Formats: sequence, structure tokens, C-alpha cells
Amino acid sequence: MNALAHTAIPADGRYADVASMPIEAIDLTCPRLFHDDNHEAVFDRLRAEDPVHLQHGSDSGAFWSVTRYDDAMAVDTNHKVFSSRDISLVEDMPEGFDISMFLAMDPPRHTAYREALKPLFSAIHVATLEDGIRARTRAILDELPVGETFDWVERVSIELTSFVLSTLFDFPFEERHRLIEWSDRAVLKNAREDGASLRWEDRQADLMECLREFTRIKDERAGGDRSDLVSVLAHGHGQKFLRPSEFLGNILLMIVAGNDTTRNSITGGVVALNRFPDEYRRLRDDRSLLAGAVAETFRWQSPVAYMRRTAAFDTQLGGKRIRAGEKVLIWYASGNRDASVFDDPHAFRIDRKNVAKHLSFGFGVHRCIGLRLADLQLRVLWEELLDRFDAVETVGEPTYTPSTFIKGYSHLPVRLHRRT
Ligand code: HEM
Repeated sequence: MNALAHTAIPADGRYADVASMPIEAIDLTCPRLFHDDNHEAVFDRLRAEDPVHLQHGSDSGAFWSVTRYDDAMAVDTNHKVFSSRDISLVEDMPEGFDISMFLAMDPPRHTAYREALKPLFSAIHVATLEDGIRARTRAILDELPVGETFDWVERVSIELTSFVLSTLFDFPFEERHRLIEWSDRAVLKNAREDGASLRWEDRQADLMECLREFTRIKDERAGGDRSDLVSVLAHGHGQKFLRPSEFLGNILLMIVAGNDTTRNSITGGVVALNRFPDEYRRLRDDRSLLAGAVAETFRWQSPVAYMRRTAAFDTQLGGKRIRAGEKVLIWYASGNRDASVFDDPHAFRIDRKNVAKHLSFGFGVHRCIGLRLADLQLRVLWEELLDRFDAVETVGEPTYTPSTFIKGYSHLPVRLHRRT
């Protein structure tokens, strides 16, 4: 286990012992929460001692954290009490920045979007994307240097997810990296690797550029009968979704949802299999274990660490009284490590019997619409990887994403070993 796993996230530059620090001192907004697996000890303690935990005094104000599996499920599946009307992040949007996305809407407005998008994410439609994804995956893998150290995040995880997004949007392939930049601006308050905050004005300017670009694409496609993601988000199927703030919000939603999540699952799988080499050997020897390995990757990595809800009414949860208007964070990253549901929860086990219970895609009305596409990308990637290489060996520690919302990696140095 990592040396930092038993230390708390840094406060005033010091590391404190999670086990002995006052529970009120735990800061779940610290962008280093997921670095070096700090979260394991933090959430173990919260689940054991204060599973519905109120944190005061953060930059984002007070908020509740729901850390046990059953409580997370109860909140996620009760949209009437725990509303999605506000942004999914703990931080509120700055005044005057009016964007809205259907992830942050309640039924019935939410349902209209969901219905319009369903055909694009159906099992049948997603299956039609497999050949293109496989061809691109092969091209990416065949260009990798064997026996040399390179960054897995940059050369594989970002390449594959940005290709899939550009396909969905029918966005120019050569410009796909702009999608990644906009995604980083949308969710990473602390997008700089030194943890310093980017100025909101700079983030906003980038997001406005994103709106201008997609508005241009939308206008170009107006009047046609196209079913790419931009056209559906602009016009729906027979419906009109014309508010610019909603259009930008939903474009950003798609960029972030389809990008950071899958990207970090692709990287997380490599990290996990290197930390649990017996599982790697078993997977190499028995491909029938692949579907379980992919699902376990989603559980173990939990790339979306939490979703925020807002209490619509006064309510009770875990013996705590939550008042209308208060923020409630559903910590999937913690529920997925709840030992009352998942045996030996910090271990990566590719044949975990109840892995389908993982919370990583949510379970309520907002359950991830892109989960089949994420599953497809990981399955195809691992099929092609196992065909070519004996191992993707990690040769250094990952650099972690400075975010508490996205649990992921900025860089991962690896070396490939060709199949013998
Ligand atoms: C919603 C996770 C991949 C599109 C969500 C939610 C989670 C999630 C946790 C919210 C659930 C809730 O609030 O109850 C993930 C993970 C992924 C992934 C872990 C990959 C490993 C994708 C992909 C796409 C996508 C590839 C599309 C390109 C969406 C959309 C929503 C969503 C549009 C909003 C659905 C709604 O509000 O009804 N996802 N996602 N996701 N996801 Fe994913």
C-alpha cells in the first residue's frame, strides 16, 4: 500500500494521520484527495464513523457527503427529494454564467432530452460504432513505441476517447484535442498540475469559444436530417432545444461525460492490473474474464467520484436531518469501496461476483446514458492489447488529476512488452 494512504490530505502543508485527526478536519474539497490513494483511508473512516457527514467552511460552503453504499443508492434513486436542479459539482457556478445541462435538470425537462438522445446510445446504435473504434484502436496501438517509456494517458487514453467523441459529434478529427481542452476547462477548477486555480475569467473565455464553435457547426447543419450529437442536441427529434445556454451546457456535458470518464477508466485499468499482477496474469490466460475485468475497472476507478444533489425538502438520512436547499454529494468513489457490499473492496478482482452492483454509472433517472459506449471502448482496447502485448508495464507513479470530482490521472509512464 502507498506510504501516503494512511495520511490525510495536506492541511497547511502538513500531512496529518487520518485515523487520529478530528473528523471535522477532513477536507473533501482538497484537490489532492485522490492523490496516492489518500481517499481510501479518508472514506474508510467516514463510512465507519460518520457516513452522512456535514462539512462546513469550504470554499463551496457547507455540504453533506454520503459515503456508504446503501445511502448513496437511496439518494441516487430518489430524485424527488434529492434534486439535480443545480450543477453536479460542489462549487456553484459563478454569478451570471448561465448554462444548463440535462444532467442538472429534473423530470420532465430532463426526460425530454433523455428521450431525444436514447437512439444514439441504444445497444443497436453503439454496436454500429464498434468497427470504427476497433480500427482506430489498432492504429493507436500499432504506432506505440515498444520497449520505450511513454505517457499512456497522452498516447492512448486521450487518443481513443477524443476519437470517439469526435465521431459522435461529427467534429473534425484533426481538431479533436480542442474537445479535451474544453472538457478540462469545464470541470477542473484546479487544472494546473501545481494545484493552483485557473482564473475563472480564463476558463469562461475558453468555454465561450466552445459555444461559438458548436453554434457554427449547429447552424451549418440546420435544416438537414442529421442524427449526430450536435444536431440532436440542437433540434432534438421533432423537438426544439433552442436556448443557447442549454445548448452549450449539453455540449459541455457530452464532452466531459464522454471524455474524462472513459479516459480515466482506460488509464485506471492499467494502474490496477499493475498493482494486482496476479489478476493481469489471469486475464492474459483467460479472455472470458474480460467483461468482468472491465466492470471491475469501473468500480475500482470510479472516475466520476461524486454527483451533487440539492435537497428539495427537509429529509432524514442516516439519522441526520438534511434541510431543503442543502447540498448533498453522493460519493460513488466511497460507496464502491464499501466492505459491506464488496468483499476486500480496495482489491482489484476481475472475477468479483457482484461487480454489476458498482455505483460508477449511477442508478437513478440520470444513470449514465453512455455506459454501453464506455464498455465497448474498454473491451475493444483490452482485446487488441492482449493480442499484441504481454504487458503494459507501469514504470513510475501516475500523476493524479487535481480534482475531487474527476478521479483520474494526468500522466502515466509505461513500457510495452511485445507478446512472446
Ligand atoms: C451521466 C459516469 C461514460 C454520457 C453519468 C453519471 C455518472 C456517469 C456517474 C450520473 C449518474 C447520476 O447522476 O445518477 C460515467 C462513467 C463513464 C461514463 C463512469 C465511463 C467509464 C460516458 C460516455 C458518455 C456519457 C462515454 C457519452 C459520450 C453521460 C450523460 C449523462 C451521464 C449524457 C447524463 C445522463 C442524464 O442526466 O440523464 N455518467 N459515464 N457517459 N453520462 Fe456517463
